[in-house]
Amino acid sequence: MAITTCIFDAYGTLFDVNAAARVAAAEPDHRVIADVWPQIARDWRLKQLQYTWLRAVAEQHCDFWQVTQDGLDWALEAANIDAPETRERLLSLYWELAAYAEVPEMLATLQARDLKTGILSNGSPDMLDGAVKSAGLEDLLNATLSVESVGVFKPSAKVYDMVGAHFGCANDEVLFVSSNGWDAAGAAGYGFQTVWVNRAGEPQDRLYAQPHHVLQDLTGIPDLT
Ligand code: LAC
Repeated sequence: MAITTCIFDAYGTLFDVNAAARVAAAEPDHRVIADVWPQIARDWRLKQLQYTWLRAVAEQHCDFWQVTQDGLDWALEAANIDAPETRERLLSLYWELAAYAEVPEMLATLQARDLKTGILSNGSPDMLDGAVKSAGLEDLLNATLSVESVGVFKPSAKVYDMVGAHFGCANDEVLFVSSNGWDAAGAAGYGFQTVWVNRAGEPQDRLYAQPHHVLQDLTGIPDLT
């Protein structure tokens, strides 16, 4: 089936999740993380994601803003950082993460080809709204779908079901793009065509399905439609 709908994960895929720690670390008021920001960024992201999986399995859902704060608190404690103002700064930067440089042109190319575009994310609606607006992507996306509508995190099939429910398309018409190997694998297992954007050159996740394509960034997405 030809691709009609291109769906993107948000954090790490369209938006640079490491930008919050990188930007704060360069600010004079937050020198306390100047040397340890890469470790904080890594632990923050890892714990944030672990908490989504554990809460999904345990049926203890909360929104993504809560796990984002919980993950950061773990990461700061692991780095022996007790700095409430830096914590607040890191969290506020999460609402205005930069999009990767190639994102606007890539989305505009898809729209010019009459493809539907959308976000499918663990993020809460207000977090996603903030990120989309601050990156100026409002006019380049047909929908921003949040897991809050179904009350469970990825890779639950209930989340991937939201794409067909919203766009009225068949699963094999969907090109699902994620920088998270487990999300690309989960979406492949669900029945979407999938792309893993492997910016960091990581090994492939050993899961129940494999992504159909692996790219280094998003510039090659229009060529797959
Ligand atoms: C998201 C996370 C998984 O945006 O990156 O859903």
